[in-house]
Amino acid sequence: MSDKVTRPRGTQDFLPEKAELLFFINESATKFFQNYGYRPIVTPTFEKEELFKRSIGASTDIVQKEMYEFEDKAGRKMALRPEGTAPVVRAFIENNLQALPKPVKLYYIGQMFRYERPQAGRYREFWQMGAEAIGSSDPALDAEVIELCYGYLASLGIKDLVLKINSMGCRDCRGNYIEELKKFLSGKVSEFCNTCSQRIDINPLRVFDCKQESCQEALNDSPKILDYVCDKDKAHFERVRTFLDAVEINYTLDPHLVRGFDYYTKTTFEVLLPTLGAQNALSGGGRYDYLISDYGGPQEPAIGFAFGTERIMLALESQNISVFTRPDLDTFVVWLEEEQKTQAYKTTSYLRDKHLNVLMGLDGKSMKAQLKMADKLQARTALIIGEDEVKAKLLTLKDLETGEQEKLSLEQTVDKLREKS
Ligand code: HAM
Repeated sequence: MSDKVTRPRGTQDFLPEKAELLFFINESATKFFQNYGYRPIVTPTFEKEELFKRSIGASTDIVQKEMYEFEDKAGRKMALRPEGTAPVVRAFIENNLQALPKPVKLYYIGQMFRYERPQAGRYREFWQMGAEAIGSSDPALDAEVIELCYGYLASLGIKDLVLKINSMGCRDCRGNYIEELKKFLSGKVSEFCNTCSQRIDINPLRVFDCKQESCQEALNDSPKILDYVCDKDKAHFERVRTFLDAVEINYTLDPHLVRGFDYYTKTTFEVLLPTLGAQNALSGGGRYDYLISDYGGPQEPAIGFAFGTERIMLALESQNISVFTRPDLDTFVVWLEEEQKTQAYKTTSYLRDKHLNVLMGLDGKSMKAQLKMADKLQARTALIIGEDEVKAKLLTLKDLETGEQEKLSLEQTVDKLREKS
């Protein structure tokens, strides 16, 4: 006997209940995002590898360790997308979207791929929903994006969310900080893991991304980026905070929040649910004012974020919040003899056309077996079609909760089923 093929490590099967919740989140978030003026964009699940190397940064964990890279049959280097910002930026430039009214607000939903060590809340294939607003440097936009990110999670009823914000400044002020950080890190090289020690000279900010506890401890008294941010960027950050205060969104300042991508500038933020354990970031984002021009596009400042859908699902589960209830089965059509089957089929189709949820008995089972099936599927009613019913042009509607039965015309049945739903 051959071994069964199982799913790859770090991937998941979404069985109906979980898939229903996934789709519910996608749908409800879409409505929420649309209120803020976002429109959908769909980009490929794989892109040229260099897109991610250039935008996320060659020395980030994502590019160095986590990208699914492959060569296609013509030997071109490709990568499964590890995130959605770089593809959206590429599409923005490639399709001249700067011609649209600004900021151009786009959202996306889809699977991302990162070769990480799988654990609760961390997968190799996972769902993200993200939003990118391109073409404005207004601090009100930063606040609005943070409000959207936090607001959607709060709208699901998730309690004890923690919003962390920081500013990384522009490229100029960040240069001064990086010099100070390098000095600090070089003074304690032995306390950092190998990867981090190598990063000190190449890209010291990336030391903050390290998942090793000892490295995080060694960073405790590191210089804080906010202390090096120029006056202009400080004023920008102050304005962002004023807007957040105005709508009473609570946040904490986290001077270590530099996030794992090279493209961030100025405002960065994350929403966490601390009780979730190691993988407690539900969403994160920030400004990336240079990414579009660095990638050969126009000089367009931008900001965005993405949330991890599986982590939202874990958060909901951990707080026993049920946001989705499957619609009931309005009726189960039961037929007695082969002669009534076509009538049963026609009736089922008619009722579905009236937006009722209907199933019918299949495979010639007895009336008793069909009623049992209706019960199992928790149908509200059963609609019985036998010889008498066909002759009288009536249907027998049985309420499966009370056991009551009545004979109704097709139109009366529709009204009754609607009443009960
Ligand atoms: P990110 O912080 O890498 O940001 O990912 C956003 C969210 O995706 C995380 O907060 C987390 O909920 C989820 N996530 C990340 N990795 C995994 C994983 N391995 N398994 C399950 N969930 C995961 C970005 O991706 C940026 N592109 C966000 C952004 C948009 N910044 C600006 N615009």
